[in-house]
Amino acid sequence: MKIIHTISDLREVLNDFNRPAFVPTMGNLHAGHLALVRQAKPLGDVTVVSIFVNRLQFLPHEDFDTYPRTWEADCQALQAAGCDVLFAPNELELYPEPQNFKVQPPAHLADILEGHFRPGFFVGVCTVVMKLFACVQPRIAVFGQKDYQQLMVLKNMVRQFALPIEVLGGATLRAEDGLALSSRNNYLSAVQRQEATALSQTLHSMAQALRAGSTDLATIEQQAMQVLSARGWQCDYLVVRRRTDLQTPSTEQVATLAIEQGLVVLGAAKIGNTRLIDNLEV
Ligand code: PAJ
Repeated sequence: MKIIHTISDLREVLNDFNRPAFVPTMGNLHAGHLALVRQAKPLGDVTVVSIFVNRLQFLPHEDFDTYPRTWEADCQALQAAGCDVLFAPNELELYPEPQNFKVQPPAHLADILEGHFRPGFFVGVCTVVMKLFACVQPRIAVFGQKDYQQLMVLKNMVRQFALPIEVLGGATLRAEDGLALSSRNNYLSAVQRQEATALSQTLHSMAQALRAGSTDLATIEQQAMQVLSARGWQCDYLVVRRRTDLQTPSTEQVATLAIEQGLVVLGAAKIGNTRLIDNLEV
């Protein structure tokens, strides 16, 4: 595996290839990230992973400074997963001057859910991914369904800018008890780690209610909030949305979409200081 820190070195190495398959990450890699690398590998003629903790997508009070950085372990894991090129620019390489040109995703996709609770988050994500795409020029890019809204926003960005990139989603990898793997799980104490499984369990209950034929979204969502709040969580959202556009389905649509597998339940909640997100397609 070649480890590369500058855009010019990256261009030189990738010059010999036609179909880079690309997995962008912020490091602190776990089995979920590595599954994306394995998914990407057979689809291209060179497998590129980036590690870059992108300041632009963190709010001032968020965990940019403390975001776990585990460089040595990440390199070893990527090597073992079959990564060919690890692109790890430092901040001055990717942002040598203030990044004044930004990608502004549409409000109806990017100012809801995560974007509502983390204003500017998707501007930061789109801007860095656009820039990483410009560096790597991949033909394939793989993102996790764990970040369901991120995947949707990026798919729309690639389509609207006519980028010659196929964006694929990778299934969410979970611990045995159902907790979606996440770098932020590292922040959890042993007790919180046990409790954390309640988020995916609650999403399961919501999905079950929909499969059982309930169309009363308000009740499903409120009950879910109550369950987690009673256990000491601070809930940002626990909602049922249409898979296609992440908008709220009308009551008439719910029953049909539940049968046609057109719904997704999405949740974000804090346990102590740690904010976790998860989702489940219904
Ligand atoms: P990061 O949180 O490091 O995630 C990198 C990729 O791994 C994302 O596509 C994410 O959806 C995926 N991922 C995370 N947990 C996963 C799991 N349990 N199973 C499968 N895939 C999982 O997402 C980002 O970084 C950044 O926003 C980024 C796109 C790199 C832009 O900075």
